[in-house]
Amino acid sequence: MSNNLLAGKVGIISGALNDKSIAWKVAQKAHEQGARIVLTNAPLAMRMGEIKTLAAEIDAPIIPADATSVEELDKLFTEAQGHFGGKIDFLLHSIGMSANIRKGKSYGDLDYKFFQQTLDVSALSLHKMLAVAEKQDAFNEWGSVVALSYIAAQRAFLDYTDMAQAKAVLESIARSYGQRLGHQRKVRVNTVSQSPTKTTAGTGIAGFNAFYEYAQKMSPLGNAPAESCADYCISLFSDLTRYVTMQNLMHDGGFSTTGISQEMADLMEKAGE
Ligand code: NAI
Repeated sequence: MSNNLLAGKVGIISGALNDKSIAWKVAQKAHEQGARIVLTNAPLAMRMGEIKTLAAEIDAPIIPADATSVEELDKLFTEAQGHFGGKIDFLLHSIGMSANIRKGKSYGDLDYKFFQQTLDVSALSLHKMLAVAEKQDAFNEWGSVVALSYIAAQRAFLDYTDMAQAKAVLESIARSYGQRLGHQRKVRVNTVSQSPTKTTAGTGIAGFNAFYEYAQKMSPLGNAPAESCADYCISLFSDLTRYVTMQNLMHDGGFSTTGISQEMADLMEKAGE
């Protein structure tokens, strides 16, 4: 159902790989709410081709850009503004990748080249996007930027390895850049810390099912699905949240503030018998 929350707004959405991607749902919902969109992803992801289905569905051009390349991001922001015929109202950063996780490296045995790549792809890319946007003066006043994060930025989770550091850096960049862009353009920058979600990036983590089921049992509302994460992002792009900035916003069904749930307590009770 559309309330035209984003009527007249234009934005860039990164990270839609397939119909499981959180970014895919955000793009569909932003379109439904009246926004015009430019889609972007790494050239490699583009070759898989599924993004073209989404582009056709929501009538959005795709501008490939490796989010670690300032040059390609510069082209992305220039071409997106050319397409819209003006500045940008919202940006979704939905990018994460760790070769250490992909190759099953343990935290004590990380490859440092991969570690640097993890930080570059998953965190510094937000800084690069915002620095390019700032230099091009690409945002309209009261614009909104959302980047997706995970609670491993604050708490230790087995097997999330170097992505935990990447998310901590990502959230810190959102605060620092939020301060800067707030002063300059009244643009807000937030991170949304999402429940474990069954996507390509999510299920690529060893032990993901355990993460998922544990969070499901602990959260009073259960794990937040990708569709609901997209709804939350839409609210943050809309004018209803103009003064929310520099926050890490938990979208986790109550997981982060739960000590123990009845379901977990019952399981532990049985284990102790
Ligand atoms: P996904 O695998 O669908 O999306 C990740 C995207 O990052 C892909 O589209 C991929 O092509 C893109 N990407 C990777 N390297 C890139 C590069 N160099 N340049 C541009 N794009 C690049 O998975 P998902 O889950 O939708 O991930 C989106 C975001 O949500 C990520 O930041 C992830 O860490 C975050 N997140 C995911 C959770 C989960 O359990 N799935 C939980 C909390 C946060």
